[in-house]
Amino acid sequence: MSRIAIMAAMHEELHTLLALMPDEQRHLLGGREFWVGRLQGREVVVVLSRIGKVAAATTATLLATHFDVRELLFTGVAGGLGEGVRVGDVVVADLLLQHDLDASPLFPRYEVPLYGRSRFATDARLNRALQEAAEVVLGASATHLGEAAVQAFGLGKARVHGGLVISGDQFVASAAQSGALRAALPDALAVEMEGAAVAQVCHDLGVPCAVVRTISDRADDTAERDFGAFVREVASHYSSAIVLRYLQGG
Ligand code: ADE
Repeated sequence: MSRIAIMAAMHEELHTLLALMPDEQRHLLGGREFWVGRLQGREVVVVLSRIGKVAAATTATLLATHFDVRELLFTGVAGGLGEGVRVGDVVVADLLLQHDLDASPLFPRYEVPLYGRSRFATDARLNRALQEAAEVVLGASATHLGEAAVQAFGLGKARVHGGLVISGDQFVASAAQSGALRAALPDALAVEMEGAAVAQVCHDLGVPCAVVRTISDRADDTAERDFGAFVREVASHYSSAIVLRYLQGG
């Protein structure tokens, strides 16, 4: 048997999926609960990684080494950086980089020492399938969320983007911080706290992976204010709906 792993950093992003797994079995490992069962008729393992690169790397490693995983999907939220990447949009990461990694002058800035690279790629087939799933979910967002949430968050015409996502152990919550990231890494679409660590582990262990993020804020001075309500009322629905749609199709 070979399972699809589904990982998220926050409970809100997983609880809908867990509620749909009536026969799941709990495995406690490394202080985490791994839920093994079926979703949409597919064998899955679902786990809360907790927040940050180390927590995500530990979780991805345990998934790959203990749960017979054939692919790994990370779902969650991110701060929008790229022009035109708005709250409510979805970003599927083609490449991931750790924006807080700097071993210069020994190695170029952002390069992961002894890997000779700063960017880690995700799986092209998974990315295509998740982009398609996200398009369907965004197209039906009013139905999923209810008109009130759509109005409250101004979710007019949400879009799906593909490109570079950057990760670091920081919640980016000022225009100065996000401006500096934008200047240093102009092609970055979004910033979050786990994806690049997961991509590096999956590269090491040979597991195809994907990172799909709903934009919860613009990583600016209002990021903290926007974040909580958005995750509860919007991103949690998007995360589960995109994963369910993917499982139906794949
Ligand atoms: N995840 C969601 N919003 C974020 C932000 N502004 N910074 C880092 N991670 C995030």
